[in-house]
Amino acid sequence: MASFVVSNIGTLVTNDPELGAGPLGVRRDAAIAFADGRVRWVGDSAAAPAADLGMDLGGRALLPGFVESHSHLVFAGDRAEEFAARMTGTPYTAGGIRTTIEATRAADDTQLENTVRRLMAEALRSGSTTVECKTGYGQTTRDELRGALVAGRFTEEVTLLAAHVPPPEYAGRADDYVTMVCDEMIETVAPHATWIDVFCERGAFDEEQSRAVLRAGVAHGLVPRVHGNQLGTGPGVRLAVEMGAASVDHVTYVTDADVDALASSSTVATLLPGADFCTRNAYPDARALLDAGVTVALGADCNPGTSYTTSLPFCIALAVREMKMSPEEAVWAATLGGAKALRRTDIGRLSIGARADALALDAPSYLHLAYRPGVALVREVWKDGDLVGRHTA
Ligand code: NIG
Ligand code: FE
Repeated sequence: MASFVVSNIGTLVTNDPELGAGPLGVRRDAAIAFADGRVRWVGDSAAAPAADLGMDLGGRALLPGFVESHSHLVFAGDRAEEFAARMTGTPYTAGGIRTTIEATRAADDTQLENTVRRLMAEALRSGSTTVECKTGYGQTTRDELRGALVAGRFTEEVTLLAAHVPPPEYAGRADDYVTMVCDEMIETVAPHATWIDVFCERGAFDEEQSRAVLRAGVAHGLVPRVHGNQLGTGPGVRLAVEMGAASVDHVTYVTDADVDALASSSTVATLLPGADFCTRNAYPDARALLDAGVTVALGADCNPGTSYTTSLPFCIALAVREMKMSPEEAVWAATLGGAKALRRTDIGRLSIGARADALALDAPSYLHLAYRPGVALVREVWKDGDLVGRHTA
């Protein structure tokens, strides 16, 4: 495969402290070389090696591609009217998920596939070079299997969200639904997924039900992740730590004990400010988590109910303005933080040997991601060393 050198990079974020300054491993006036889909060399622009192809960045910034560790792209329909009602005071409840379950069950595979393709392309356009994708709007064995197969055509990070909300035919019988999930659904879908997820929240599944689903997933080789503490305090964080989950996501309402438990665990707290923005929820206390030493990731949580955005730049701006994260913390959380939430060591950083997944901004620094909110700043995107997107004004 051809080698490729990007030179004259004004600010290079490597996320490798051995390659540059601070936790982001920042270098000025830098160059980077890719070959065979991997990073091969990082150094001063003046010392850039010869390559088959090259690009002069003219002083603009280059970062690792964003790692989106939380999205729900397999769905049909939208819930724009539910959003509009929320903006005039109707609170969000987990029950809205059933509207999307109905539409998703009625859609054929081609419709679902077209939606995932469109949203994956949208995510890539804003710099997400890895995108995890959950099922969760089927809630029958047949429809969850369909969801996992469709998601698997676009990403290797497929999550079986087996227990999102008890579906209508199990109204008032959540225990029976969990029994079906544990005895039948997980066994059928597990070969097509990596992760098992559950919405552990009032109106969805309680602690005992959530634990049963996660344990059944583990028994079939899946690794847990948990939706927890989104709408109120509860057992989600505690359960995620108990189960050794890769991440607990949302983490908006936590107790001191939850923060302590996370800090002494390997579970990543994935914060989803797009969901809090679109539901008029409080934002998570990112400072308490970071100051306690918790590993924090940022995700966009694209879904038709709580966060119909694929934009991690938007989430970085929210994290900086509304959650008091520094720009450095927010950029790290959307890149290496996301990689840690997916337990990946080959992405989220531009170390030698890492995947050549990168984005260039139409700006001199990563600071502009928060400083210029709402502006489409991502100009070039590389995936496995290939230039897969180039967007000029
Ligand atoms: O991550 N919290 C649960 N699941 C989604 C919302 C799903 C929906 O409302 O459709 C979330 O916010
Ligand atoms: Fe979610």
